[in-house]
Amino acid sequence: MRVLMTGHLGYIGTVAVPFFQEGGHEVVGCDTDLYRACTFGPDVGAAGRIRNLGLDIRDLTPDHLSGFDVVVHYGGIPNDPLGDLDPEVTMQINTEATVSLAKAAKQAGVPRFIFSSSCSNYGAAGDTFLDEDGAFNPVTAYGRSKVAAEQGLAPLADARFSPVFMRSATAFGVSPRLRFDLVINNLTAWAVATGDILLKSDGTPWRAVVHIEDIARAFRAVAEAPRDLVHLQAFNVGATSENYQILELARMVEEVVPGTKVRFAEGAGPDLRCYRVNCDKLARTFPHAKPRWTARMGVEQLYEAFRNHGVSKEEFEGPRFQRKAHVLGNIASGTLTSELRWAPQQEAKVA
Ligand SMILES: NC(=O)c1ccc[n+]([C@@H]2O[C@H](COP(=O)([O-])OP(=O)(O)OC[C@H]3O[C@@H](n4cnc5c(N)ncnc54)[C@H](O)[C@@H]3O)[C@@H](O)[C@H]2O)c1
Repeated sequence: MRVLMTGHLGYIGTVAVPFFQEGGHEVVGCDTDLYRACTFGPDVGAAGRIRNLGLDIRDLTPDHLSGFDVVVHYGGIPNDPLGDLDPEVTMQINTEATVSLAKAAKQAGVPRFIFSSSCSNYGAAGDTFLDEDGAFNPVTAYGRSKVAAEQGLAPLADARFSPVFMRSATAFGVSPRLRFDLVINNLTAWAVATGDILLKSDGTPWRAVVHIEDIARAFRAVAEAPRDLVHLQAFNVGATSENYQILELARMVEEVVPGTKVRFAEGAGPDLRCYRVNCDKLARTFPHAKPRWTARMGVEQLYEAFRNHGVSKEEFEGPRFQRKAHVLGNIASGTLTSELRWAPQQEAKVA
């Protein structure tokens, strides 16, 4: 199968590329490499060796898409802090560009479009379990942009074109493009770097979490599945057993990283984002792609990586592994425009 993967140089994409390749698929990437200075370890591995169209997803046309069997769409603004920077740009990239990319794919005859949506669509949902029919209640610009993208994609579905909505839980795990702005990664890195596990909320909100390898496994299963299993379907990507209150995750880190202690940041209060998700549909539809990682295994994996690689407080708090800080730094230095496009002299370094 020929796969066009947007965002293949990101946190999830760099892990997904070898997963798809192991399945015998040819992967071509499309990423402007916003985080080119943010590699954890020596290099980005297989994702750095495939062809990269190197274009902004806002600029893709049907000509770029012809000949592919599936588009796997990871590219875009990945979380709440970045999404809040400029909600209009977030909407432009996550919603408008996603829908126009899907239209271009459909026009080029690509039959399947797998959209990396999010459980953030459910937003403030309290503590009842939500399956894919759960009501949307996004509380951030990021969540709203993903909901609007799903709503823009659905009407494109027809006999020739199948959009699929992959609502991933909050990701964790080691990647060549590791991020510290995700709860499990953040708590573990903070613990290793400082000896403290710092909670910025009161620890009560629920979060569903999923390892990035399990996300990649689910996406590949959907790419390979017969059309009638996935056509216009939504899947919560994770495991129903992997819903935790933030304080539970913090206690887990306390157990794994010796000599550490949970602490609450000054003014830590409730967090609006709170949801528990039922992911049984994914496991039921694709038993071979059931998540294999637990949060506990992820903390252990991260702890091991931080022990081998080392992680300092400066690095942890700095722009290398925090996407918002990284983007803000590049905008301030003029290398990136406020619309998150590279300044002309940088653009040449992408492809
Ligand atoms: N990480 C999570 O917890 C999580 C959870 C649910 C959904 N998702 C979704 O999965 C996708 C991938 O997430 P991630 O954590 O790997 O994000 P990431 O930020 O690490 O990677 C996104 C990649 O997209 C590229 N990109 C951004 N804007 C672009 C543009 N306009 N044109 C071309 N390339 C562009 C970036 O350079 C980056 O390499 C995102 O859509 C995100 O919303 C992530």
